[in-house]
Amino acid sequence: DTKRFFTDRILTWNRSHNDRTMPWKNEKNPYFIWLSEIILQQTRVEQGRPYYERFIAAYPTVNDLAKAPEEEVFRLWQGLGYYARCKNMLAAARSIAHSGKFPDTYEGIAALKGVGAYTAAAIASFAYNLPHAVLDGNVYRVLARYFGIDTPIDTTAGKKRFTFLANDLLPKNQAGIYNQAIMDFGAVVCKPQQPLCKTCTLSPHCEAFQKGLTDLVPVKSKK
Ligand code: ADE
Repeated sequence: DTKRFFTDRILTWNRSHNDRTMPWKNEKNPYFIWLSEIILQQTRVEQGRPYYERFIAAYPTVNDLAKAPEEEVFRLWQGLGYYARCKNMLAAARSIAHSGKFPDTYEGIAALKGVGAYTAAAIASFAYNLPHAVLDGNVYRVLARYFGIDTPIDTTAGKKRFTFLANDLLPKNQAGIYNQAIMDFGAVVCKPQQPLCKTCTLSPHCEAFQKGLTDLVPVKSKK
């Protein structure tokens, strides 16, 4: 069926064509993954990379981060903006250090300050291979196009629909690899502008491509 086709093709593309490299890819250390995802919440990959490298050099463990004075951490964050991210991360690091270990369940991760559904799913799946689908802008776009979904992504109904679909598609024993693969696929092939439909191995079953609607999905509600 088209769902099975989708998941298989994403995994196959990832194995044989995905040449996207990022320092946090295939990382298993939950603290490093967490740091990368917090940085990437409002920052592009190329801009975030040097910050990630400097942070893990300065604070190799979550306990090191927990012990650091706030001014020092803020200095390292300078240029990234959205200081609430940094402040929340430091508070969460201190609570992790206090509890003695990084949470290893989705609920435990989601309870960390500054960690929403996306970041919790990313950490849970990348670090522990827990079966939680990530939904970021890339994933919304890929799913909206392939399945021809015109429910606006920024509505409660849209979030519900995409979350259900994304978790339905998730290969439960390859959650980490698949989550990274679909995000990379969205960034490299199913791009916002000028997606590579001509060479895309999903296009035979892609609703948006078949109907010439790739420029119109995903749909956002006009607010
Ligand atoms: N954006 C946020 N996290 C990402 C990740 N792990 N891979 C690609 N893009 C991302």
